[in-house]
Amino acid sequence: MAIIDFLYKGRDIPRFWVLEEIARAPYFSFMSVLHFRESLGLRGPEHIYLMKEHFAQTLNETEHLEEMESRGGNKHWVDRAFARHLVLLYYWIMVVYYAISPVNAYHINEQIEHHAAETYNKYLTMYPDDAKIVAIRDDELQHAEELRQAMKLVLAL
Ligand SMILES: [Fe+2]
Ligand SMILES: [Fe+2]
Repeated sequence: MAIIDFLYKGRDIPRFWVLEEIARAPYFSFMSVLHFRESLGLRGPEHIYLMKEHFAQTLNETEHLEEMESRGGNKHWVDRAFARHLVLLYYWIMVVYYAISPVNAYHINEQIEHHAAETYNKYLTMYPDDAKIVAIRDDELQHAEELRQAMKLVLAL
């Protein structure tokens, strides 16, 4: 994330688009692993709750992505190429990580959600009237909280 912040210094909207493109991936990874576990007959009591929650998060992150696209964040092929290679890598890393250690996978993505909220907060110091960004920032905080709850749930099993 620090590398993305450095590379995209001064280019807020493309940076947000890249971050949103990456931020969606872990939720797809979680759902893939949950589906796979289900197919193996490893459906626990928390299964339906987590599937619903992660699916809702994928949709919400897609809405964020669409907002950044409407602002031209994916206009340049170099940004699209960068994000799409990175997301491919991150998706598979998270599939393996979540399959091995869901608690740690939740934890790292909780931190990424907090980082996203901080990123939007910095932008809001310059553009405090940008209501869409305020709403997206609140969504990211909500995601971080949901991941914390999911972590607690999995830890309690
Ligand atoms: Fe987002
Ligand atoms: Fe998020």
